[in-house]
Amino acid sequence: MTRSPDPPIAGIDKRRLAILLSGRGSNFEAIADAVSSGRIPDAEIVAVISDVAAAPGLGRARQRGLPAFAGDRAEFRSRADRERRILAILDEARPDVICLAGYMRLLSPAFVARYAGRILNIHPALLPKFPGLDAQRQALEAGEAESGCTVHVVDESTDSGPILLQKRVSILPGDTVETLSARILEQEHEAYPEAIARFLAERPPTG
Ligand code: GRF
Repeated sequence: MTRSPDPPIAGIDKRRLAILLSGRGSNFEAIADAVSSGRIPDAEIVAVISDVAAAPGLGRARQRGLPAFAGDRAEFRSRADRERRILAILDEARPDVICLAGYMRLLSPAFVARYAGRILNIHPALLPKFPGLDAQRQALEAGEAESGCTVHVVDESTDSGPILLQKRVSILPGDTVETLSARILEQEHEAYPEAIARFLAERPPTG
């Protein structure tokens, strides 16, 4: 017998997720699907924010009727301007957790401190191996037998911070950056919702 998700308890607010993205948005969609299906229980997406106005992920957020915010060039000229604007949106949205989902900008230490311990990221490698750009290519070029993805809490350094969950994939003979990236991405779509659900469950609402 399948069991439908528990209804939210009256008087208890849903957990509020904000998403930051710069591109395709497939991890955002996996998170949004998990919220809709109750795999991330008692949660809602309160803001989808992009530093790239034309990011496909933002269009997908709008199609789902979610609050989507795109920076325009003037507002997002410098990191200080960009972060001031994003923090203003987040202050309004009051997220419990901020999920970086292919957000291609480094966050300043001040931004990270403002939401310390509540910013999550997904990276397409088994951290601490292969942080930074082109993680799949790095794993291939290093001759690894396996790679995968990591969901972690964001700290002030790039792709570092406490690891919440990893999923592994074998690297197969003949793998290219494209084939390996596609197999890792499938695992990312499982890992991120699972990690968010676990993170929220272990961190009861404060309000
Ligand atoms: C993913 O590979 C993620 O691990 C990395 O950026 C990519 C974003 O893909 N941080 P998408 O925009 O979620 O499809």
